[in-house]
Amino acid sequence: MRIMKKNKDLLELRNKYVPQAVYNTIPSFIERAKCAKMTDVEGFEMIDFAGGIGTINVGHCHPKVVNAIKDQAEKYIHTCFHVAMYEPYIELAKRLCEITPGDFPKMAFFANSGAEAVENAIKVARYYTKRSGIITFENAFHGRTLMGMSLTSKVKPYKLGFGPFAPEIYRIPYGDANLFETFLIDHIAPESVAAIIAEPVQGEGGFITPPPEFFPKIAELCQENGILFIADEIQSGMGRTGTMFAIEHWNVVPDIILLAKSLAAGLPLSAIIGRKEIMDSPHIGGLGGTYSGNPVACRAALAVLDIFKEDNLLHKAEILGQKLSKQLKIWQDNFDIVGRIHGIGSMLAFEIIDPKANKPDKDKAKELVNLCYKKGLVILTCGKFGSIIRLLMPLVINDEDLEKGLKIIEENLQFLEKRN
Ligand SMILES: Cc1ncc(COP(=O)(O)O)c(C=O)c1O
Repeated sequence: MRIMKKNKDLLELRNKYVPQAVYNTIPSFIERAKCAKMTDVEGFEMIDFAGGIGTINVGHCHPKVVNAIKDQAEKYIHTCFHVAMYEPYIELAKRLCEITPGDFPKMAFFANSGAEAVENAIKVARYYTKRSGIITFENAFHGRTLMGMSLTSKVKPYKLGFGPFAPEIYRIPYGDANLFETFLIDHIAPESVAAIIAEPVQGEGGFITPPPEFFPKIAELCQENGILFIADEIQSGMGRTGTMFAIEHWNVVPDIILLAKSLAAGLPLSAIIGRKEIMDSPHIGGLGGTYSGNPVACRAALAVLDIFKEDNLLHKAEILGQKLSKQLKIWQDNFDIVGRIHGIGSMLAFEIIDPKANKPDKDKAKELVNLCYKKGLVILTCGKFGSIIRLLMPLVINDEDLEKGLKIIEENLQFLEKRN
């Protein structure tokens, strides 16, 4: 048997050979993970409320996903879709076209990461509309590549020192559709705008949701002006909010939908799904990539779709959301350091504040993450000020782990509240 190094030794090597910019949340190195639990190389067991930043909605190593991966790996691992095609790619494209909102012909293709899906959506939108302007939002996050980072709002840590950024990107505040209307008068003519890209629930931004009228009005303005509406569902999709896609809560049909993260239960895969006429407009050879739509990842994604159906995961997400929402409201009532609650369904988050100053408290949020880790729970921060705690546990988490995890948060909130 291979002898595992200890966390401390691995951390030393990590610090020697891996740049600091590739940040980490906890100092553990994982040896195995199952459902909603991770165990590190020293046998320390943690309940996972981070789910690989929302990639593990079906749980770590779901047997159906593992079997699909094994089965595919024994047949063929990669041929490159551009060289030799394979069925899992086609089957996944078909199924995603069928389940995404919009009763019209659709097409889909694949990439490897969320950021790459964003890049591709912008390429397709510009090609189809023959326009270059892209409208994005304040507090948005769309990835770390040049286009993804240019569309992203928060400067530190995502953009500082990494410019110049991609041109023809315009940013408006999130949540007020009237501002979009006047923006098209004051800043850029609608005839120059290819697309508007929005997260239905802003993920890194703090699980922020816009008011009910926002997306319907945005979609209407897009339609009137020939602007494409791209929904970035990379964090909010795959059942997180209780519907398969968060945009369904607004009853709005995007022209293009982007998926990644939980799509393939942790394997690198992203999808760009949209109206057929848009998706099929670029010339042959204009889209794709060597690894894009890798068959093992496609098989994992097909297993994920099966799990949603067979295990009634949307219902589970709804129930989980109700439990979390109840708990968060209790904390909000009982602790002065718990501020606003954000999100919908089981995509929920709560803000840690300094109650005396009534301001976001990033340091305390970070302390909460560290305290929880020491007691065996992994949670994540997010938000403009880094003060929001987001909950992205697998939707399949069992009651015991859920309650244990929530109790760890509660005890630490109690501790921080008393010390306040
Ligand atoms: C909404 C959204 N878009 C895009 C991305 C980028 O995805 P990736 O990190 O896979 O490139 C993320 C990642 O957090 C995201 O939350």
